[in-house]
Amino acid sequence: MSNKCLVTGAAGFIGSHLIDRLLEQGATVLGLDNMKLGRRANLSKALENPRFKFVEQDVNDVAGVMKWVAAESKPAPFDTAWHLAANSDIRAGVTDPDVDLNCTFLTTYNLLKVVRELKIPQFAFASTSAIYGVHPGLLHESIGPLFPISNYGAMKLASEAAISAAQEAYLKCAWIFRFPNVVGSRSTHGVIYDFAQKLKKNPAELEVLGDGSQEKPYLHVGDLIESMLYITEHAVEPLNCFNIGPAGSASTVRYIAEAVIKRQSPGAKIRYTGGSKGWVGDVPKFNYSIEKLKKLGWSPRLSSNQAVDRAVDEIVAEVQRG
Ligand SMILES: NC(=O)c1ccc[n+]([C@@H]2O[C@H](COP(=O)([O-])OP(=O)(O)OC[C@H]3O[C@@H](n4cnc5c(N)ncnc54)[C@H](O)[C@@H]3O)[C@@H](O)[C@H]2O)c1
Repeated sequence: MSNKCLVTGAAGFIGSHLIDRLLEQGATVLGLDNMKLGRRANLSKALENPRFKFVEQDVNDVAGVMKWVAAESKPAPFDTAWHLAANSDIRAGVTDPDVDLNCTFLTTYNLLKVVRELKIPQFAFASTSAIYGVHPGLLHESIGPLFPISNYGAMKLASEAAISAAQEAYLKCAWIFRFPNVVGSRSTHGVIYDFAQKLKKNPAELEVLGDGSQEKPYLHVGDLIESMLYITEHAVEPLNCFNIGPAGSASTVRYIAEAVIKRQSPGAKIRYTGGSKGWVGDVPKFNYSIEKLKKLGWSPRLSSNQAVDRAVDEIVAEVQRG
């Protein structure tokens, strides 16, 4: 169990939920975020806790990170670095490949330098289904070779490789979590968030990229956090890699668009832009195996459509509040 944790990407969607849960478990947490995509409001609950410290800090500034982590290591050393800082906007990395080199790969590479220097023994990493690229059939952890089709996926796969090498050299234990699409409150991006923002601007019509047939597994952030904590407690190989996904199911973009309209703007018309993909680098359909995670003893509570329904309620309420 993580007792003293460093969390990067702390003010983001998933990082802030992880921090709330770690604090609930009694951990002491140092959170870092450069606030490019993060929001201080996501940390409002955590900031009330004396066991939490937040620093606005870019992970690629190694000397800066080293200074804060070394200072906070004095009373007791850190046991786990949770690395969630990354570019979460796949489309931005298509336009400018440097975005993912810097935010998605170099954050991992640079954080590993800090972890090595300050002897943090455990490393937990937010990877993604995007590392698989377009692959027929069920995606499971032992598939290879892997050919991602986005810079984001490529830089996450490179990060996994760097973590593997670090584990061989100096980490006691590493966990690689391959997330599907994650949804829920505090979203800073993603399809439900985009639809809610578009409908706020134009309640009469919703533009949807593609033809609505894109179909992917969606996992609620509550299930995601529980699964990560479960894996770090129960998977004890030196290097552990797990797909995390909903209970054997996926949701179409059409389902999501209709759910957001029903909740936020009943009667709005959907305008599909056409084509089977949302954007360059989008993997339009995939099917995830979570058998390895089930064998470890953890199963998600919600199906993909249930996760979408819950997240639509949460995200639309937040977007309407402004
Ligand atoms: N949300 C999803 O569906 C999903 C799916 C697969 C993987 N992931 C991964 O999970 C992690 C968290 O994603 P999220 O959805 O919470 O996104 P997010 O954008 O809400 O959170 C990422 C945070 O990292 C911060 N950040 C980026 N570059 C940084 C840097 N150089 N230094 C310090 N902070 C930096 C951002 O400001 C942001 O707050 C990311 O690594 C992402 O790639 C997310």
